[in-house]
Amino acid sequence: MTDKPRVWVSRPTFPGVIARLEPHFEVTVEDTERKLGPSELAARLARQDAVIVGLKDRIGAAEVGAAERLRIVANLAVGYDNIDVDAMSAAGIAVSNTADVLNESVADYAWALLLGAARRMTAAERWLRAGHWHATEFKAWLGSDVRGRTLGILGMGRIGQAIAHRAVGFGMPVIYHNRSPLPEAVERACHARHVDKAQLLGESDFLVLALPLTPRTRHAVGAPELALMKPTALLINIARGGIVDDAALAAALRDRRLAGAALDVFEGEPKLHPALLTLDNVVLSPHIASATTETRRAMTSVAVDNVLALFGHGPHAGRPPNIVNPNVL
Ligand code: DGY
Repeated sequence: MTDKPRVWVSRPTFPGVIARLEPHFEVTVEDTERKLGPSELAARLARQDAVIVGLKDRIGAAEVGAAERLRIVANLAVGYDNIDVDAMSAAGIAVSNTADVLNESVADYAWALLLGAARRMTAAERWLRAGHWHATEFKAWLGSDVRGRTLGILGMGRIGQAIAHRAVGFGMPVIYHNRSPLPEAVERACHARHVDKAQLLGESDFLVLALPLTPRTRHAVGAPELALMKPTALLINIARGGIVDDAALAAALRDRRLAGAALDVFEGEPKLHPALLTLDNVVLSPHIASATTETRRAMTSVAVDNVLALFGHGPHAGRPPNIVNPNVL
C-alpha cells in the first residue's frame, strides 16, 4: 500500500496511456471487460479517489453513497447518460467526458453506415457468405444513390457538424434541426440549413441522429416521427439507444413504411429488439462508431488528462478540460 491517491479503471484500455497516472496514483485496472452489478460497483468506488469508467458502468447516488474520497468520475465517452450528473454534483464529484477527440471517427462511421445501408452492403455480404452467388441478376441488389439527395441531421453539435462537412463531396444539400440554430458562420461552413423538426423528418432522404440522450430526447424518433418520414428514407443512429423507439422502428421497417436503417446503438443494448435481427433492410453494429485505435487511445488520454489535472498534475494541471459539471470545481 502507498499513500498515493487511488484510481480505478473499470475496463481494459491502453496500458501505455494509463501508465501516465502511475507516478501520482495507485492504479488498478480491471483486466477483463465485464459489467459490475450496482453493489459490486459501489464497493469498487468506495475505495477510490478517481475512477475511469465506461458506458456499461451506471453510476448514480447509490453507487457513490460510500465513496467518500471520490473526486472525479472520468467517462470514456462523449455521452454521459450512464452517469447521474446531478447526483455527482450533489456529492461534490466532478464528471468528465471525452468530447471532441472522437468527432471525426464517429462522423466517418455515420457515413459508413449511411453508405452501407444505401447500397445494402451487409445484406449482400450475408447472401454471398451463404453461398447464393451463382449468377447475379442485373436488377439484383439495387440500392439507392446518395448524390444530390437530402441529408438531414438531428442534433447539430460537433459530431453533427463533422457529418455535415462530409456531405459536400457527395453533393448533398444538408438540413438540420437543433433546439437553437447554429451561428450563421457555422451554418455556412457546414453548408447546412436549420429547419423545424417536422420539416427535417419530412424532407430528409437520409436522417442521421447525432444528439445526446436526455429525458427530453428519449424516443425523439418514435411512431409519430417515423410516420412523417418518406417511405424511401433511411434512418441512421450513431447517437444513443433510447433516442429511437426501436419497437416502432422495427415495425416501420417490416411494413416498408421506411426503406431502411443503420443502427450502431440500441435501446437496452447490448440487448437488441429481436425484430431488428430478423430484418434485411437494417444494418446493425455493436456501438463501435468511435472504435478506431487512434480515437480510443485519444479518449483514454483525455480521461487520464482530466484525472491528472484535477489532482494538479499533467498538461492541464488544476484545469481539467472536459468537466461537464464545472460547478463542483
Ligand atoms: C460516446 O463516446 O459517447 C460513444 O458513444 C462511445 O463510444
